[in-house]
Amino acid sequence: MTRPLIAANWKMNGDLALAEAVIAGLAEGGGGGVDVLLCPPFVYLREVARMVRQAKVTGLAVGAQNLDYHAHGAFTGEVSAAMIADAGCEYVIVGHSERRALFGESDDDVARKAQAARGAGLAAVVCVGETFAEREAGRTEAVVESQLAPLAGFFADSDGGDFAAAYEPVWAIGSGQSATPGDARAVHEFIRRRIADHNPAAASRARVIYGGSVKPGNAAGLFAEPGIDGALVGGASLAARDFLSIIRSGYAD
Ligand code: PGA
Repeated sequence: MTRPLIAANWKMNGDLALAEAVIAGLAEGGGGGVDVLLCPPFVYLREVARMVRQAKVTGLAVGAQNLDYHAHGAFTGEVSAAMIADAGCEYVIVGHSERRALFGESDDDVARKAQAARGAGLAAVVCVGETFAEREAGRTEAVVESQLAPLAGFFADSDGGDFAAAYEPVWAIGSGQSATPGDARAVHEFIRRRIADHNPAAASRARVIYGGSVKPGNAAGLFAEPGIDGALVGGASLAARDFLSIIRSGYAD
């Protein structure tokens, strides 16, 4: 089985001391067969990547939270996939709902970003998920399907190891109210089937992780569901103890 992935999305929070605390905790106790990903703000990437290399913890990697899909050019304030790779990253989050809602990223932008990530040898953590109103209207699958549609070519060319899909219901992000394990599982299965439409081998190998108010108290229940291959953790990744507890709460060797 593919190793689960537990990712910390710090958003515009955190500092080097937080990275140090998480890395020290993992170096002490190990990750227990789990891949762990730290996604701090851009300015910390190179230093956190250096700290991670030095710590020599198996399966621990660094990723960015966003990228620009252009290779280079007059795009003030933006950062390319190659620059992110050059900083020592192995991953990049693509299409987080805050990028979509606050910065106007379209489904097509997200697909371009995923392709740019692959071009630089980065694994994309591609986020999809519905709003509360969309869920209430019974449109969860339709919304997720339309978010995945422009990624058809990306999935078709994948070996399943160069991306993870993150199911992040928008209403669960930062709200304290996680999806139930059963509801999350149903959408994970839907996402995997849509990927399989383009590439069955990649779909069975790729990780589909859950994000939205994952905490020490609900992680084990989510991780117990087949097809939930890890988590993308926001708020609870900002306290080293909580994040380490989430890592240790599932997928023990
Ligand atoms: P949360 O954020 O864990 O704070 O809900 C998750 C995310 O936005 O990736």
